[in-house]
Order: sequence, then structure tokens, then C-alpha cells
Amino acid sequence: MKLWGGRFESGPSEVFERFSNSLHFDRRLLAVDVRGSQAFARSLTRAGVLAEAECATLCEAFDAIRADAEGENAAAFFAGADDEDVHSFVIHKLKLRVGALADKIHTGRSRNEQVSLDTRLWLREECDRTRELVKSLMGELLELAAKYPNAVIPGYTHLRRAQPVLWPHYLLAYFEMLARDYDRLGDARRRVNVMPLGSGALAGSGFPHDREAIARDLGFASITANSMDVSADRDFALDYLYAASVVMIHLSRLAEDWILYSSEEFGWMELGDGVTSGSSLMPQKKNPDSLELIRGKSGRVIGALNSLLFTMKGLPMTYNRDMQEDKEPLFEAADQANGCLEMACCVAESVVLHPDVPFAAAEESWVVATDLAEALARNGTAFHQAHQIVGRLVLDSLRNGKKPADWSAEALAAFAPEFTADVARLLDPREGMKTREIAGGTGPGVVAAALAAARVRLSEMA
Ligand code: ARG
Repeated sequence: MKLWGGRFESGPSEVFERFSNSLHFDRRLLAVDVRGSQAFARSLTRAGVLAEAECATLCEAFDAIRADAEGENAAAFFAGADDEDVHSFVIHKLKLRVGALADKIHTGRSRNEQVSLDTRLWLREECDRTRELVKSLMGELLELAAKYPNAVIPGYTHLRRAQPVLWPHYLLAYFEMLARDYDRLGDARRRVNVMPLGSGALAGSGFPHDREAIARDLGFASITANSMDVSADRDFALDYLYAASVVMIHLSRLAEDWILYSSEEFGWMELGDGVTSGSSLMPQKKNPDSLELIRGKSGRVIGALNSLLFTMKGLPMTYNRDMQEDKEPLFEAADQANGCLEMACCVAESVVLHPDVPFAAAEESWVVATDLAEALARNGTAFHQAHQIVGRLVLDSLRNGKKPADWSAEALAAFAPEFTADVARLLDPREGMKTREIAGGTGPGVVAAALAAARVRLSEMA
């Protein structure tokens, strides 16, 4: 069924119908379309357009349509539908149920406001789902941190061993990224949660809707302020896509870390059998496919953001059919982001760290060099001089195959008089961390406190 036609002498070509039809993907909005239409019927009733009894009949029919669409025979319900989009489909089904009364439901309503409403209703729930999953992963990271509270790993810059850090400190870095993701998704949700109905096609409805009442009915925090903006705006979808893209960048980086750390070359950790795959040819392989797929799928979500950015760029005011292209990227991004978060939770739960391996990596390299240089500086040597002295110590050690532990306090003092006895203790990577009891640092005291604070923050997250 078409929601238009009077001014046409002939119908659309088969090619154009096939080309422009969106029902195969926007049917996903059916439940929210029904919900929005029921609220619209109630508003038309308050405005004196529909009688109470008509409203009740329509709302019941909408319920039945939703039940059909979600029931066992859903496939048959949609089969053969040639409606342009989900909005037309629902009204078509309404007409089959209630006859001529169905012709009143679209009084003064445009699909431009309707699609904005539906997308907002759908996306509001999706924001909540993504936020819940972000929270779950934050919880998993805290558990994984608490399993190895004292484990020491080399922290990296340029993928070169840099300075020793605590394992929980490393995981708390991701906790912070995800906390910001949670916030960003909350910001997106706030901009999604604004009620557009009553805007008409672009100029505002010609019927006296109480728009605040519609907002209350559908649980929106406020109403949109400009009808042209409603028809033209997809910022709220872009906000979600951006927030989801940043989530995916974080997941992708975590995945990359753990692909490396679980490799034979690093050997720090083992991923569970349940999240890894074997090779069809090489019997020994245990591949980190779950993490590789997370890393791979991040491209699809970032692609979805770009897709809608490019779609919106340069569209004249207000609605243009181009905007129908918003839905597939949006659905895709939400599905992928949620799926990847769920997968990441399982992987995190499965990780077994072998703390002695990263500790050995820290011990055998010169990650304590900064600790030594800072100690010299604390004892009065200018930092640049201290840096030079320790640099020479590292060069000498590398030439002679010496690790930090191979140096005695006496040998150090002989190398340079600035190396007093108290400095030698910093050859142990655990010792230098104790000098970093600064807010946000890797000192064992502040890390333990940060872990405890993170638990509280997580429990208090709205
Ligand atoms: N299927 C359309 C979309 O998603 C609904 C709005 C159609 N409006 C219109 N004026 N053709 O954008």
C-alpha cells in the first residue's frame, strides 16, 4: 500500500520500487513504529481528531500487528509485502484490520517525523544496551586485574620496553577508556531522547497536539524545538555512531595487545580454548580468532560512521530520501559494537596470565633505567647528567651482556660515583614503582586504591 498516489497518473516502475524499498531492513523498527503510532493516536484523541473508541480500536489493532510481526508466523506476515517502508507496511496492515478508520491515523503526520521518532525510540534502547555491555567489560577487566594484583609487566612505548608497570595499572587504563565510552554513549542518549512528533513534514503539525504530553507518553525527556531541524537532523545517529566507533577503537587496541601478549613471542598469557580456534592443517595452532574478529569488525563500525557522515554532507534543507541510508549503518554499528563487547567480556574472563614471563621480560631489559636516572636526580645530579650516566651504564651492559640484576652496588659505584648504595636497590623493577606513588601513577599503593575506587565507580554508574 502507498501512503500517496492521488497526483500520479501511473505507478512507480518495478525497478524503482525494488531500488527504493526499505522494508527488508527497516522492518526492524516495527515495534517502535507501532509504539509511536499508538502514542500519536492518543495525541490525536486529545486534540479532538479521533474519538476515544476509535483510538482504542486503533491501539488494539497496532498491538495485534506487533504480535503478528513478532510471532511464530512472522515470515508469512511479511511475505510478499510490497510496501515501500515499515511505516507504509504497518498502515497497510492496520487497514486490513480496521478498514476506513486506518485512514485517520496519519492525520497531519509525516513519515519524516515518524522515521525520526522511530529511530530515536530504537536507538535509545540500543544506547542502553551498549552501555550495559561496556559496564560488563569494565567489570571483567577489574576482575582480571584483581586476579594478579602484584604482577609486573614491562609497559611499552613504540612497542619497545619502556618502564615497569603493574598489571592492574595496565588494565585500569582500558577501564578509563571504557568509562569515557560509557559517558559518551550517555551523551548520545541525551540527544537521542528528544521527542520530534508534531513537526509534520517540515513546517509543524496543523493539529493542536500537546507535544509535551506525547513526550511523557513515550518517556522522552523533552521535545524538539524546530520542525525543520527534525526533518533534516541525523546528528543523534551520528553521535551514537561516533561513540560506538570509539568503543571499537578501544576494543581493537585491547585485542591487538592480547593477540601479541598471548603469542609465542610474548608468552605472557593464555586465552581460553572457548575463544580460540585451531587450524585445519597445522595441528599445533591455537589462534586468537575472537580477538582478530573484534579488531576486524572495528573497521565496519568506523565505516558506518563515515557512511552516514558522507550521506549527510551537503544535503539541502530539510528531509531528503538520501537519509533513508542512515538505517543500515546504524543497525550494523549497534550489532557489531554490542557483539564485540560481549565477545570481549568472554575473552577477558578466559585470560590466564603467567606473571613470571612478563616479570622476566621486565627484569632482563633495562626498563629500570628511568628509575635509576630519577634516583640520581633526587640525590642532586642534574637530570640531564643523570640521563647520560645511566645511558652509558645501559650501553656498557648491552655490550657485555649484562642485565640489571648482574650489577652489584659496589660495581655500580665503581662505574660512576653518583651510584650510591640506595640507588642500587632500584635495579629491581618492583622497587622503582614504589617511587611512583603519585595520583594516576603505577605505585603499588595508588594502584590498589585506584582498583578499589574503580570498583566503587562501577557500582555507582547509573
Ligand atoms: N523510509 C523513509 C526513510 O527512512 C521514511 C521517510 C520517507 N519520507 C519521504 N518523504 N519519502 O527516510
